[in-house]
Amino acid sequence: MKVKTAVLGVGNLCSAFIQGIQYYRSGGRRGLTHEYIGGLTPGDIEVVSAFDVDKRKVGKKLGHAIFQEPNNSPKIVEVESDVVVEKGAMKDDPPSVIKPYLTGETDAGLANVLRGRNVEICINMTPSFAYKSTRYYAVECLKAKCAFINATPVPVVNDREIADLYEREKIPLVGDDLMDQIGSTILHRELLRLLNKRKSFVEETYQLDVGGGTESLWTLEKSRMLKREVKSKAIKSVLPRETRVVAGSMDYVDFLGDRRASYLWFKGYTFGGIPYVMDLKYNGPDSFSGASILYDVVRAVKIALQRRIGGVLETVSAYGFKNPPRHITSVENIYSAFYDFIEGIINK
Ligand SMILES: NC(=O)c1ccc[n+]([C@@H]2O[C@H](COP(=O)([O-])OP(=O)(O)OC[C@H]3O[C@@H](n4cnc5c(N)ncnc54)[C@H](O)[C@@H]3O)[C@@H](O)[C@H]2O)c1
Repeated sequence: MKVKTAVLGVGNLCSAFIQGIQYYRSGGRRGLTHEYIGGLTPGDIEVVSAFDVDKRKVGKKLGHAIFQEPNNSPKIVEVESDVVVEKGAMKDDPPSVIKPYLTGETDAGLANVLRGRNVEICINMTPSFAYKSTRYYAVECLKAKCAFINATPVPVVNDREIADLYEREKIPLVGDDLMDQIGSTILHRELLRLLNKRKSFVEETYQLDVGGGTESLWTLEKSRMLKREVKSKAIKSVLPRETRVVAGSMDYVDFLGDRRASYLWFKGYTFGGIPYVMDLKYNGPDSFSGASILYDVVRAVKIALQRRIGGVLETVSAYGFKNPPRHITSVENIYSAFYDFIEGIINK
């Protein structure tokens, strides 16, 4: 059995997602969060349609398009695919550096194309500045009765109007803003929980990210405050008391390529009110950190489709995203809720 997906945005995250499918089909196992979910492996995920707006990718076979500039995620496998990247829709005012590379708009409505390919699930991996494009895609997917996964921080699940439409049509919707396998948000949250549990109370904390992918550049130019809002909310959700938090400030360092350095800083006090400061740095992959969680989410959404469960999938959103409608505060609780969903103990 296959899961038929479409990808919106053939950037670094998409490259990791597509390469990973091939890697796991060829027997690779390293770094996989779950081999089986609902009887499916990541190799059962099939990408049958792909859309972008950049001339360097549109018209090329997917296995070739994922390695075109400005993508800079590492190559771990060759990808054989007959899927040709099609024109998407640019509904936003993009950063000036990508304007010369833009294709015109697609003639066929996205919904028609998705219907024609029997796409079950659309994965939105457009940049965080693509606010209007994301909303357009979410509505087109609904018309095609496709489930929608929003990997971007643009509010979709958190947009009441769109979420209500998916509820009404009983089509699965999950998001917003994919949580990395290991990234600054999950590390920051879990360390805060540990410090608070050990009564080493944190009074002030921040998280700064430096990355070399284009998304870091666009975030800097266009969506810094959106990213900061989403990340700060994700961190505050685990804090039992008033704490000063800054999370999600970002800068762009081109020569880092598809890597990210995250700086975490904590100031608090322990027994007797004695103060401490903790400074940590994590240096890891960027796009490849998102792909594994995305496989889990795709397979969980497929389960929802099989069970004819629609609307916002709260548990899957809390498992895989930084800004779900309802936060579950600890990793253990997130995992047990996610497994309950897979077993059918939790409905959504
Ligand atoms: N680990 C991760 O990579 C990670 C984690 C969490 C969230 N995200 C989110 O996933 C999204 C993608 O990240 P990325 O690093 O792959 O970004 P990227 O900049 O490498 O790729 C974005 C792609 O979308 C294309 N695009 C731009 N506008 C479009 C439109 N209107 N329609 C179709 N395609 C369009 C671009 O040409 C590019 O190919 C971002 O919103 C990011 O915040 C990524």
